[in-house]
This record gives sequence, structure tokens and C-alpha cells, in this order.
Amino acid sequence: MKRRTISAALTSAPAAWVRGVDNARRTSPASPRPWPIGIRPTPLTFDDQCASEARRQVEEIRQELSRTRRRLRNFQLDMVTTLVAAVEAKDLHAGRHSANVAFYADRLIRPFRLSVRQVDVIRTAAILHDVGKIGIPDAILTKPGPLSPDEWQVVKQHPLTGAAILRSAACLQRELPMVLHHHEWYEGGGYPDGLCGEKIPFGARILQVADAIDAMFSPRSYKCSYSVDRVCSELLHGRGVQFDPVVADVAVSWLNRSPGEVTAPPPARKFQTMQHRR
Ligand SMILES: [Fe+2]
Repeated sequence: MKRRTISAALTSAPAAWVRGVDNARRTSPASPRPWPIGIRPTPLTFDDQCASEARRQVEEIRQELSRTRRRLRNFQLDMVTTLVAAVEAKDLHAGRHSANVAFYADRLIRPFRLSVRQVDVIRTAAILHDVGKIGIPDAILTKPGPLSPDEWQVVKQHPLTGAAILRSAACLQRELPMVLHHHEWYEGGGYPDGLCGEKIPFGARILQVADAIDAMFSPRSYKCSYSVDRVCSELLHGRGVQFDPVVADVAVSWLNRSPGEVTAPPPARKFQTMQHRR
């Protein structure tokens, strides 16, 4: 009797398993694997194996392409950053200007809840924004006194020169419009194109304010470093004229909230984009 029970169980088990598989297929038709993990009712066909191998190779190529793109972007970023360093080495006033602008831009964009990619593009553009100054003759770039109107015209070419430099770097095309338009004024009247309002790329409006904040905090031969109160007052004065009113408000609010961040020496303002060196 006992032997008959065991025998019946052995013969009915496979049938029960097949019924279970059928039920699983019926109850979850969208499931890609209706059978238990590790068990497959039929062996892989030659076509299945070829398809699996092809998928593996495509994934490997995709990953290698992604690594190559990152290496190329880092290389191009290094190349342009070297040009920025060359400009800053020539101009004693420039000092750590690019790194400071990247620091201020980073603080200004926080309330806007941008994607990681958008933040990275704006921070990179902040570092590169004055790369076009490489085209300004030393006599003008390092002139201690005020510039003549003709010399100003030469200086005003630097966004165009910067854009021309970035145009040859395929991986820096998103940063290009911000570099090109970082001296446009919100109400118009800036350069090079006299754009106004929201026609100015958002990142360029951020750079405009960040650039001005660093200029006001940096001592020059003809002026001292401004106090936080004076910088706030200037930002409010230029609100809606030179500066995007929303960005200016964000800047004033941040400066009033965290004055210690700008009065402290900035050794920690080392720049590195999110994607750089990954
Ligand atoms: Fe500039």
C-alpha cells in the first residue's frame, strides 16, 4: 500500500509540475519567465545561444562607447581648462576667478532643482566662461588703468572667441551658448548679441550674476573688495536691468543667509565637474 502511494506520487509529480507551469503562463501572460529560475523545460536552441551572445557583445560595445565618450569629454575639458589657466596666469587679477564663478554658480542654481546633467553643464560653463580672453593682447588684458573705448571693443570680443574655441570641442556644445551669452543684460544692451529676458540662455543668466558677484568681492587696483551688504545692494539695483530678477533674488537671499561662505578664503573652491574624472 505504502509502495503504491510512493509510486503514484512519483508518476503524478511531473504532471503536477507541468500543470503548475501552464497555470503560471495562464495567470501571468506578460511574465518573461513562467518556469522556476534555474529550470528550463527545453534546452537553448542554437538561435537562442547566438541571440544571447549577440546581446552580450552589443552591451560590451555600448559600455566601451560610453567610456570612450567620457574620456573624450575629459580630454576636451582638460584642453580648454588649460587655456583658462593660461589666461589666469597672464592676468594677475583673474586669480581664481573661474573657480570662484563656478562656486557662486553652484550656489545660485541650487533652488532651481535642475537635473545632475544640467548642473554639470552650468558648472563647466562657469569654469570656461572667460576662455576667450586668451585672444586679448596682454597689453590690454593686464593694463592696470581704465581701458579706452577701442580697448573695450577688443575685450568685448572674448565671448565670441570663447564660443569659437568651444565649437571645435564636440563634447562641450551645451556649454557654448552660456559662454557666448554670459555678458548679455536682462533688459538688453549687453553683448555680443544684445539679447534680453528669457532669450538669454538660463545658464548664461546664472553666469552673469555669478561673474558680477566675484567681480564685486575681488579687490582691484582701483577698488576694494565690497562688503556683503554692498554686493546685495548692487544686485538689487541691477535686478531686471543687468540681472535676471529671479536669479538676483536667489543671490541676495543666499548672501544674507550665508555671508560666511563668501567672506571665508576659498581654498575649497576647487572645481571638478560631476562627470570629470569618472
Ligand atoms: Fe567674461
